[in-house]
Amino acid sequence: MLRSPGCGGRLRHLPVRGNYQKVNANSCVRFAVQILHATMSTAEKMPPRIAVLGCGYWGSNHIRTLKSLGALYAVSDQNSDRAAGFAADQGVEAIAVDDLFTRPDVDAIVMALPPQFHAQSAIRAVSNGKDVLVEKPIALTVPDAEAAVKAAHDHGRIFMVGHVLRFHPAFEKLLELIKAGDLGDVSYIHSHRLGLGKFHTENDALWDLAPHDLSMILAITGTEPLEVRGEGAAVLDHLSDFAHLHLRFPNNVRGHLFASRLNPYRERRLTVVGNKAMAVFDDMEQWDRKLAVYKHSIWQDEGQWASTTEEPSYVKVAHGMPLTRELQNFIDCIGSRNEPRTDGEEAIRVLRILTAGTVVHNKVK
Ligand SMILES: NC(=O)c1ccc[n+]([C@@H]2O[C@H](COP(=O)([O-])OP(=O)(O)OC[C@H]3O[C@@H](n4cnc5c(N)ncnc54)[C@H](O)[C@@H]3O)[C@@H](O)[C@H]2O)c1
Repeated sequence: MLRSPGCGGRLRHLPVRGNYQKVNANSCVRFAVQILHATMSTAEKMPPRIAVLGCGYWGSNHIRTLKSLGALYAVSDQNSDRAAGFAADQGVEAIAVDDLFTRPDVDAIVMALPPQFHAQSAIRAVSNGKDVLVEKPIALTVPDAEAAVKAAHDHGRIFMVGHVLRFHPAFEKLLELIKAGDLGDVSYIHSHRLGLGKFHTENDALWDLAPHDLSMILAITGTEPLEVRGEGAAVLDHLSDFAHLHLRFPNNVRGHLFASRLNPYRERRLTVVGNKAMAVFDDMEQWDRKLAVYKHSIWQDEGQWASTTEEPSYVKVAHGMPLTRELQNFIDCIGSRNEPRTDGEEAIRVLRILTAGTVVHNKVK
């Protein structure tokens, strides 16, 4: 162990590959640390020191979850009272936003800001040697997103996007069934993400809600769409409160997405239609009914299509909170330097589709 700078006198292990901050130690001590670290099991290694930037609704979930994983080091928010409240609750430091990016004792930053601030903050962070997990959407334009991901690449930093449903055990199981051929050839995927609010002023329902669905759809198809068509309705102001996307993939695989922030009920449902079976991931269902597989029969009888319906079978899904699993993937990648499951390239692919499907409404007020 070695005392690292600026960590309040805490003793910390240092990783062999130095993505954590540089330490003013003499070479003998550093060599000893490397040997010690190389012989330690993963469980014995200290987690990275992660700060959460943006202590709002979703940032507070990151704060609590990182704390439970032993990796919460600090919090930061332009609202210093809010940051101070979380710092006191969690027993960590509140760091002023302007100081956060250059603090040598912070290894990585999780950003949950209004999305117009994500790209610029991510560039500041990676340029100062921090790994980043940036909430979706990582920017409000593709060029901004590309600049942030390129900066991370240029500085050898981990860049992860918070497409949290990719870490949902029910979605992982669904993907496993599809890859094993249990649904047969997939021809159609549709996803509904409906509810009331939140009404952002800079991004519409499509950009706020659909990144999750697009991330899952792209994981299923394994390829980008050939064609994207969007429709949107702006009811409250000039940004779409309802949005539909129609996607056409190679092999005539079709996708359809409906996102709304002005709907009387909540719906979180992804449906995959294959020629052997159909599956539904319904995140509003209780855990043992989140993933249903329907083996209906459909056949042609003297030129007429006919069908018989079957009761769904519910697939056993391992327990685990998606956000905990997402953050664990981030922590693992900080240590291993492997690419996260939801990396910057994936974030850009999603933003390209959002851009192609965005409907611009005239400002009426
Ligand atoms: N992955 C998910 O499931 C999920 C769910 C909800 C929100 N989000 C995303 O998280 C992000 C934050 O959403 P939210 O609902 O928590 O918003 P929020 O408005 O509740 O919180 C934003 C916080 O950022 C702070 N802030 C604003 N500008 C800042 C700046 N320039 N520097 C420092 N702090 C600043 C605000 O004071 C506030 O505390 C959005 O990108 C949103 O899309 C993701």
